[in-house]
Amino acid sequence: MDIWKLRGGSRLEGQCFVQGSKNASLPIIAASLICPAETELNNVPRLRDVDSALKILRHLGCCAEQRGNDVYINSTGISENKIPHALMLEMRSSVIFMGALLARCGEARLSLPGGCQLGKRPIDIHISALRKMGAEIDEDGSNIYCRAAKLRGCELFLPFPSVGATENIMLTASAAEGETVIKGAAREPEIEALAEYMRRLGCNVIGDGTDTIIISGTKPKAQLCYRVISDRIVAATLACAAACAGGDVELRSVDAGHFSTVLHFLKQAGCDIICDKHTVRLRSDGKLYGVGDVCTQPYPGFPTDAQPVLMAALLKAQGRTIITENIFENRYRQAEQLCRLGADIQIDGRVAKINGVERLVGVRLEATDLRGGAAMIVAGLNADGDTEIFDEGHIKRGYENLDQVLRSLGADIKLL
Ligand code: UD1
Repeated sequence: MDIWKLRGGSRLEGQCFVQGSKNASLPIIAASLICPAETELNNVPRLRDVDSALKILRHLGCCAEQRGNDVYINSTGISENKIPHALMLEMRSSVIFMGALLARCGEARLSLPGGCQLGKRPIDIHISALRKMGAEIDEDGSNIYCRAAKLRGCELFLPFPSVGATENIMLTASAAEGETVIKGAAREPEIEALAEYMRRLGCNVIGDGTDTIIISGTKPKAQLCYRVISDRIVAATLACAAACAGGDVELRSVDAGHFSTVLHFLKQAGCDIICDKHTVRLRSDGKLYGVGDVCTQPYPGFPTDAQPVLMAALLKAQGRTIITENIFENRYRQAEQLCRLGADIQIDGRVAKINGVERLVGVRLEATDLRGGAAMIVAGLNADGDTEIFDEGHIKRGYENLDQVLRSLGADIKLL
């Protein structure tokens, strides 16, 4: 059990580098399987989910190790197409191995993935697309068995721009005969990162970043190197922490365009924000204003992953904020815990109404999930007295050395 101990009231000052993106790293690690190659990845965060993805690769017969923030993968000697249930449960992204194994082996045996409990999280869009590409898929509610004698490119229309489904289809399409056109594709920066990695691996991918992605075949390269993009949700979390605690913080090695919707609301809340090519400087006196309506949407809309941390930043803001969560049906699990600090949050289905309060007072909380746990840290930094967050390891799934980063900015936080 991790225990995060923090005392609110310190301003955050200084500069810090933002880690590489978890949600970009994981699909790229899976993608390293699609053809025999030696991959070097740089700027990979040291996280439990990354360890889990590398464990899966090793189980499949690859060499895979992380040294600092570099990952080395040799996927020439793959010997297995089955991922054990225990490894699948370690994270949500394990489902992307379905497309990667199908592309490489024509066969994949796995089970339903784990990850944060944010709602039902079905994988029907993944499965129906892969079936259209020629895969036979048997699933019994817990195990999935896919095989394809031949994969064929086709035109696919996604009913929702699912990030995971888009990734799975891109990987499967790399081994398909002919062209695969994904219409209604996810446009997240992590999709562009995966496409860029696949291009370096020798795949033909165009249109990533738009809603139509076209993949047509692969001429594999033996060796390649790729630097992972920075983590826009970690950047958003640090920006939200500085906004409500007050301070003057420079986030380095970020792409402001990737979290511009979050910065937009922080500006509206009263922060002074200057964006440069790879830095964002945020100044705040800690006195924020409610921002009215915030709706989570697929990219380029406001990200669901930043919803809990923005909520936490605005708990003491003067006025009201109304959040509508459009991506996951159960993404307010942090709210009950935040109310224990004295917050005024009313939840009605997908809508959360936050009325700013004068004071938050530190208490003992329980981290509910990855971003919900991060939200409790943001709120604790803005509460009077001591907050303790009991966490079964959720926060470390997505944040590398978060205690150290916040301490370097002046926060009073310890991880026991
Ligand atoms: C990814 C991210 C996650 C982020 C989410 C939305 C990773 C590891 N995770 O998750 O952090 O919160 O994108 O930006 O990159 N859906 C279906 N059927 C499907 C697939 C999805 O109904 O087959 C629904 C889901 O239940 C959810 C919504 O679509 O309500 C979004 O899911 P999706 O975009 O697939 O998210 P993930 O890839 O799971």
